[in-house]
Amino acid sequence: MARTQVAIIGAGPSGLLLSQLLHVNGIDSVVLERRSREYVARRVRAGVLEQGTVELLQRAHVGERMLRERLVHDGFELGFDGKTTRVDLHALTGAAVSVYGQTELTKDLIEARSAAGAKLLFEAGEVSIEGFDGAHPRVHYAHGGRRHELHCDFIAGCDGYHGVCRRTVPAQSMQSFERTYPFGWLGILADVPPASRELIYSNHARGFALCSMRSLNRSRYYVQCGLDENLESWTDARFWDELRRRLPAAVAEAVITGPSVEKSIAPLRSFVVEPLTFGRLFLVGDAAHIVPPTGAKGLNLAAADVRVLYGALVEYYRTGRRESIDGYSAQCLRRIWKAVRFSWWFTSLTHKFSDDPFNHRLQLAELDYLTGSPAALGSLAENYVGLPFDGAG
Ligand code: FAD
Ligand code: PHB
Repeated sequence: MARTQVAIIGAGPSGLLLSQLLHVNGIDSVVLERRSREYVARRVRAGVLEQGTVELLQRAHVGERMLRERLVHDGFELGFDGKTTRVDLHALTGAAVSVYGQTELTKDLIEARSAAGAKLLFEAGEVSIEGFDGAHPRVHYAHGGRRHELHCDFIAGCDGYHGVCRRTVPAQSMQSFERTYPFGWLGILADVPPASRELIYSNHARGFALCSMRSLNRSRYYVQCGLDENLESWTDARFWDELRRRLPAAVAEAVITGPSVEKSIAPLRSFVVEPLTFGRLFLVGDAAHIVPPTGAKGLNLAAADVRVLYGALVEYYRTGRRESIDGYSAQCLRRIWKAVRFSWWFTSLTHKFSDDPFNHRLQLAELDYLTGSPAALGSLAENYVGLPFDGAG
């Protein structure tokens, strides 16, 4: 019968980073991932890292390539009413964000884990968990044509929104909060230089658009789209045309088009489950909370959970004290709800919710107020770069 200290379900950023930080601190873990290694490494998602996330990656000894290749952004642009206005993050907060793709981060983490000889199992099927309400949690899974049982001290549910861990918890033990939005994001990746040096979040009567990037030769663009859109109807030509129509003219002219190397649609959702801890099971990252991507908070929030959990586990294994473990849920939820609020607000400010022109006028008035008020800009900037870790979430 196999045994480990912490069984980690899911090899997304949460699971991999937790496993790596535990390893650096002498704690053993096994990571079970249902997808293949190639699939996990290819999935295109987040692109913006807060400074706190950058520091955590350094602590995990996986920051070297990121520090070399990241693009440091001291600000971003808000596009509305035919023009762009810069939000000077550095002047407003003293901090900046880093552009470094989640795919690259995942690659770095998989490499570091593999180099350390980690038990990182891809294509682990039929994962189920039990016994976490008592002293002997167990994980069952299929791998290499055989069924296995893994005993552990703790289970970390890092298996994303559609994972098995949250679904195994009895419904009466948790409360969930959800808001769905009547639109999604259609995103493309193209090997062309970005339209601008910094990101541009654009409010337009036709709907929201975002100009982002992965490097100086690789652009990531999004347009708000309907939930029932089908990807096939979005040819590259239609995408570029729609994107340009939603950007201020000067930016639209600077967009360099090219064939897309990836194209996908993601629905937008706010979701939180409370609590995050059920006996010896901890929910981490997207398994416990989802935010719309507008504020670039999802991956950073996942990293913030990992920061609290690995610290609590290290304390437990070193001293036997359970206070930090017991405080995991409450501490994380404070930050989570602030990020949920910010992401909801930034989405509400920049997206088209209806054809009612009154709503659009209100958004334009708020953007006008915001960009003219250092106090309001300060609030936007301090949330965007990441709220401080004050020990209380
Ligand atoms: P996931 O990445 O979902 O990983 C969960 C893993 O668990 C997956 O590998 C999955 O295959 C595995 N799994 C699921 N079920 C099982 C099972 N039963 N058994 C075993 N394994 C299982 N965030 C930002 O911070 N900044 C951004 O700029 C940003 N942009 C985004 C843009 C888009 C279009 C999207 C969709 C998301 C964006 N996010 C962003 C959010 C970010 O990608 C997620 O918050 C992040 O991936 C969460 O990591 P995670 O490890 O918690 O979950
Ligand atoms: C991205 O580059 O994928 C990205 C950037 C900023 C966001 C969301 C996504 O707010």
